[in-house]
Amino acid sequence: MDRSDVAADLSSVLLSEEQLQTRLDELAAQIDEDYRGQDLLLVGVLKGAVMVMADLARRLHHSVEMDWMAVSSYGSGTKSSGVVRILKDLDSDLTGRNVLIVEDIIDSGLTLSWLKSNLRSRGPKSVEIATMLRKPEAAKVDVDVRYVGFDIATEFVVGYGLDYAEKYRNLPFVATLAPHVYGG
Ligand code: XMP
Ligand code: MG
Repeated sequence: MDRSDVAADLSSVLLSEEQLQTRLDELAAQIDEDYRGQDLLLVGVLKGAVMVMADLARRLHHSVEMDWMAVSSYGSGTKSSGVVRILKDLDSDLTGRNVLIVEDIIDSGLTLSWLKSNLRSRGPKSVEIATMLRKPEAAKVDVDVRYVGFDIATEFVVGYGLDYAEKYRNLPFVATLAPHVYGG
């Protein structure tokens, strides 16, 4: 698939590469300040959080550790099932650690709410959440999120780690899909 095929699939760019990177500078500065002098373990949620994890982590002046989890709450479609399965668990012991979950997007909040309480049960010192995107109007449960890149409208977006049927994750920006792609 070349870049021109991708462009035909997209409806509009919601957040440019520059907007994303500028916001990450701000979030990283805030995280550095909040965790100054403290241990910090970043937990990335595969696969969507790969981009935000890489870009956020390299902006921190902090010496952090990075670990990964894979959970599934979605099939290849666009609706939350509310059912969360651990596909890959952490390698790290969380006892006494400051854990910061790094996510691509919070939609209904069901995934993060489940994940936060799951990690809390492992004896960490703290568990907070950083997400690049959040859809406030789609919230079904209240999740306390400490760091939010951007609040966006309730529409399906791709790029910057986010996929539609595993495609578009590598786009450096966030875009909405053209209706013909998802059968609209
Ligand atoms: P919930 O509803 O549990 O969902 O907060 C979080 C997960 O759902 C996926 N998700 C999306 N993926 N474009 C995507 O590519 C979207 O607009 C979108 N909304 C939710 C994503 O995997 C996220 O971790
Ligand atoms: Mg995800």
